[in-house]
Parts: sequence; structure tokens; C-alpha cells
Amino acid sequence: MDVAIRVPLAGEIDELVALDYGIFGEPGYSVISLRQFFDLAGPLLQVAVHDGLVGYSLVLPSYDGVSGWFLACGVRSDWRGRGIGRALAVAALAATDASPVRTLRLTVEPANRAAIGLYESLGFVDDGMAADYFGAGGDRMVMRRHRPSS
Ligand SMILES: CC(C)(COP(=O)(O)OP(=O)(O)OC[C@H]1O[C@@H](n2cnc3c(N)ncnc32)[C@H](O)[C@@H]1OP(=O)(O)O)[C@@H](O)C(=O)NCCC(=O)NCCS
Repeated sequence: MDVAIRVPLAGEIDELVALDYGIFGEPGYSVISLRQFFDLAGPLLQVAVHDGLVGYSLVLPSYDGVSGWFLACGVRSDWRGRGIGRALAVAALAATDASPVRTLRLTVEPANRAAIGLYESLGFVDDGMAADYFGAGGDRMVMRRHRPSS
């Protein structure tokens, strides 16, 4: 595959903004948001790199420190189906499990079978529906994963 999964460089934030917009579309994270996530996340923000950025994942801890949100996992459309999404998610969970965060939640469009299948295979379970989560009509399925006990 020849794709590296690693923490981004500060100088890659502009490219990350374009990547996020290309994957998720409007409104997308601004350069201000992603720069601040970069400062907050450390190893919980990771990129997939092959001659430029082709995917990224982002986890952030919540106020209580022991729970958090898997905010993004996305791969450029022309790079999907090659194991990069799984590699990013596995790396995000490894970084999360090395942090104080024990319970991770995420939201996903209920019709997004690719993402739901990926998350289920990594131990996430249905945590209920959230109506209008992203405003009117923006319903989301919430999924939850507890850190496996060692
Ligand atoms: C979800 C996404 C990250 C998967 O990335 P990917 O690189 O294509 O995924 P992988 O090739 O690593 O496949 C991982 C798993 O995803 C699932 N999957 C991938 N493509 C699929 C498809 N077209 N249909 C059903 N399941 C699919 C499978 O469970 C697959 O399992 P496998 O590893 O046993 O084959 C990618 O489709 C994407 O970026 N989608 C747009 C953004 C998005 O919806 N992100 C998730 C919500 S935040």
C-alpha cells in the first residue's frame, strides 16, 4: 500500500483543510479549527500519507478526561477500499487506548454502511439515534466503544 500513518506536521494544516473539505464537503473544518485541533490532539490526530495527504482521523477527549469523541475518519475517494480507513481507525484507537480516555463515542450517518461496518468491526456498538444532531434533518447514529480491559 505504501501509505504512512502518522501525526501531521504544523505545515500540513492547509492541506488537511482541503482534504477534509474534499471528503466531507460543506461546511468543513476551517484552518482555525484544524490548527486548534492539531494543538489539542497530539497523537489523537493522524494522517495517511502517500505523496501528500490521502486520509485523516481525529479523536478529542471530553471535559471529564475519561471519555472522548472520535470526530473524524475519512479517506480521499480515490484511495478508498485499500485498507487506509481501517489503518487510520486502528491507529486512532491505539492512541486513544494509550491515553486516559476509556469510553469513545462517534456519530455517523445512519445510511453510511461502510463506516458503520468498519466501526462495528473495531468494537463500537449502537448507542442510539440522535435526531437533528447537526441541525434540522441532520440525524445521526451514535456509536460507543469502551477500552478493552487488559
Ligand atoms: C468510511 C471510510 C473512512 C472507509 O475508508 P476505506 O479506506 O475505504 O476503508 P477500508 O478499505 O479500510 O475498509 C475498512 C472496512 O470498511 C468497510 N467498508 C469499506 N468500504 C465499504 C463499502 N463500500 N461497503 C461496505 N463496507 C465497506 C468494510 O467493513 C471494511 O472492512 P474490511 O477491512 O474487513 O474489508 C471511507 O469510506 C470514507 O472516507 N468515507 C467518507 C467519510 C466518512 O463517511 N467517514 C466516516 C464517518 S466520520
